[in-house]
Amino acid sequence: MRRPRPPVARPAHAAGRPARPSLTVKKDIPVTMTLPARRRATASLACGLFALASFAPLALAQSAPAAAPYEPMRGQAGKDVIWIPTPDGAVDRMLQMAEVKPNDRVVDLGSGDGKIAIAAARNHGATARGLEYNPKMVDLSVRMAQQAGVSDKVKFQEADIFVTDFSEATVVTMYLLPQLNLRLRPQLFRMKPGTRVVSHSFRMGNWWPDEVSRVGSAELFLWRIPANAGGTWRMTGASGLPHHVQFTQRFQQLEGQAAYDNQLTAGVVQPRLSGESISFGVRDAGGAMMQFQGRVAGNRITGTMSRATGGTVPFEAVREGPAEPIQGIEAGEQEGLAAARALEAGPN
Ligand SMILES: C[S@@+](CC[C@H](N)C(=O)[O-])C[C@H]1O[C@@H](n2cnc3c(N)ncnc32)[C@H](O)[C@@H]1O
Repeated sequence: MRRPRPPVARPAHAAGRPARPSLTVKKDIPVTMTLPARRRATASLACGLFALASFAPLALAQSAPAAAPYEPMRGQAGKDVIWIPTPDGAVDRMLQMAEVKPNDRVVDLGSGDGKIAIAAARNHGATARGLEYNPKMVDLSVRMAQQAGVSDKVKFQEADIFVTDFSEATVVTMYLLPQLNLRLRPQLFRMKPGTRVVSHSFRMGNWWPDEVSRVGSAELFLWRIPANAGGTWRMTGASGLPHHVQFTQRFQQLEGQAAYDNQLTAGVVQPRLSGESISFGVRDAGGAMMQFQGRVAGNRITGTMSRATGGTVPFEAVREGPAEPIQGIEAGEQEGLAAARALEAGPN
């Protein structure tokens, strides 16, 4: 059995102090020396001092201890919100809810130690970008991505999420604060329809989520950026279709009316918009239900109509006039400002 070694005195640098350079210079020059001897001694002192000046930094650098790797502290300050990492199980669930695929571009807003972006690349093969205000966290994330072997797929950027363009994202993730989510809402609504937005813990004000999950104490919310389906659409396709369908839209929620002629209109039944995908029912002039499934692309909807009695036919709808603005979005900006002002004002 090995005997325990006795404690040994630690060198100064081990305690965080730089070790002294080993080069020593004799300072005392006896005055009893002959002049040439004194000159030689002075020259030797000058050389010694020169050598000390030249090599001391090198010696210091060589003996200085390697800087300890940066260790973030839970709860440490951030620009607009502190750092607390999303638990691993919640990260996995957020990426599942967003159905992240290899062709996705994931952007984590306020990426902390980079764990969401790294998981998106490592577990789903996506490319990912983390935007983080704290440069030390950015450096840490870069190291973590290297360790995870996904440096080619994940980039981290020192940036303020409120002045940085992330419009390339197909999936946006965040763990921020309610009023920060609201501030982001107008920017999110300008993103491509179908973009998924997943938030840990915090909602988007009155923009109702498409899906909610809970992992332990972490509540997770998913939204899909809706296409704009508001306005009046002229329909063509099989006989028996209404000639016009009109939708009003608030966030991703639709209400609509179908018109056959001046005599008959029919309420649109269970309209649903998920990104660009639209579906709704309309009862025809004979009373039979028709189910429409389609895709909104700008001012055109293309898809299929099927009846319970069987048979599926293609249809097309073209928007007449301009798209109506989606209701609710601008209010988000106002809500965000009001929430931020209330926070700044503090408790009454
Ligand atoms: C609660 S942590 C979430 C970290 C990571 N997204 C996660 O879920 O594990 C929020 C992060 O946002 C960063 N942050 C705060 N304000 C920011 C801003 N304006 N722009 C970029 N990052 C910000 C903080 O430094 C912190 O790392």
